[in-house]
Amino acid sequence: MDRIVVTGGNRLEGRVAVAGAKNSVLPMLAAALLTDDQVTLFDIPHLDDVFTICEVLQRLGADVRIQQPGTITVNAADLESCEAPYDLVRKMRASVLVMGPLLARRGRAKLPMPGGCAIGSRPIDLHLKGLRALGAVVEAEHGWIEARVGRLRGNRLYLDYPSVGATENLMMAATLAEGTTVIENAAEEPEVADLAELLKAMGAHILGAGTKVLRIEGVERLGGADHRAIPDRIEAGTYMVAAAITGGDVYVANAEAEHLEPVIAKLVDCGALVVHDRGGLRVVGPERPRPTDVKTMPYPGFPTDMQPQMMALLSIAGGTSVITETVFENRFMHVAELKRMGAEIITDGRTAVVKGVAELSGAPVRATDLRAGAALVLAGLAAEGETEVWGVHHLDRGYVNIEGKLRSLGGAVARVEDSLLARRTS
Ligand code: EPZ
Repeated sequence: MDRIVVTGGNRLEGRVAVAGAKNSVLPMLAAALLTDDQVTLFDIPHLDDVFTICEVLQRLGADVRIQQPGTITVNAADLESCEAPYDLVRKMRASVLVMGPLLARRGRAKLPMPGGCAIGSRPIDLHLKGLRALGAVVEAEHGWIEARVGRLRGNRLYLDYPSVGATENLMMAATLAEGTTVIENAAEEPEVADLAELLKAMGAHILGAGTKVLRIEGVERLGGADHRAIPDRIEAGTYMVAAAITGGDVYVANAEAEHLEPVIAKLVDCGALVVHDRGGLRVVGPERPRPTDVKTMPYPGFPTDMQPQMMALLSIAGGTSVITETVFENRFMHVAELKRMGAEIITDGRTAVVKGVAELSGAPVRATDLRAGAALVLAGLAAEGETEVWGVHHLDRGYVNIEGKLRSLGGAVARVEDSLLARRTS
């Protein structure tokens, strides 16, 4: 199993560029099922999750091609199936995003109940409740969900929680429904607004993208479109924390300051200097971070996907910080691993009290999910000695070449494959 080995102590300096947003690209690829014309997406990061959803589309009968690095075309004219395969949905629960488009396009969708993951049970009750309100008959048995409808009918929907995925699934479904759909308490994440821009380019009538109230007027059909994904604000935030945790000076190109305001505010609280221009963001880290409190919230609040990375930074702050995770019920799996590196953290439910230590010590640690893995790599950058992060496959789901990008900034970071390791120790 691959692992990433980090030797701490280097200040990161230089320029790194972020790719298109994974959490935009996944729903946008699903949206290509809504039309029998070609959809072309640019700035696509070559991530495992992207390849997984492309495989789901192919198994449904869509023609998916990587035209050149970063550009993918999808043509779903000849859909043969409305059933998402268990082996792929099990790998990536975001596959549930094909449900709304399949129902809207074919009146049928069948997929295995997506499993939970390390950070929580990840239910999809809000997705199913919304699809039922749009007229679909949805049954769940033997671990499968099957939804059928003649044609979806517009309705007024209220989301009990501003779920990103539910907002995206229901918005996509509503584009081809008969009549108008209003989604209240919708998610406001930039990736939801980015998806709405693609849908509008395909001919959808959507008002309120990126706000709490979406109004979608159904149309008879959607056409093809070309679209460029927004930059990945979480990948950008991860490299901003890398600069802060090493006291470095890093320019994160393509980062959109407007999408990162809560992260910028917290890094400034910690004593970092953050300056932005049209091309990106420059972060100059403090000698030692100051403590600050963090509470994750739906956008525009502090993003839950940056909580583990902030915890790594606050583990070496000159004081005590309180982190409250309000979005997922179990997103502190990285705490035990940070404590193995000498961090002093006490958790109680969704609250973690982080007492900063002068220095972490390198150790073998295990990533339990994508962002926890990133946090452990960041902690390794500031730790004394060598940190070996196991479970690199989690990182590969959301970061393109994180070891190479950190190395280009002066980080002592390498990926070690088992075979190489075996040769070394044989
Ligand atoms: C999206 O997941 C992102 N994934 C996640 O990023 C991100 O952490 C999350 O939004 C929150 O911002 C993608 O976009 C592919 P939610 P999603 O539905 O849509 C509860 C990463 O690291 N909920 O907004 O699954 C749910 O249990 C990943 O890139 C229900 O109760 O998130 C959770 O507590 C991790 N019922 C909360 O809402 C539902 O039907 C937020 O979930 C749906 C969600």
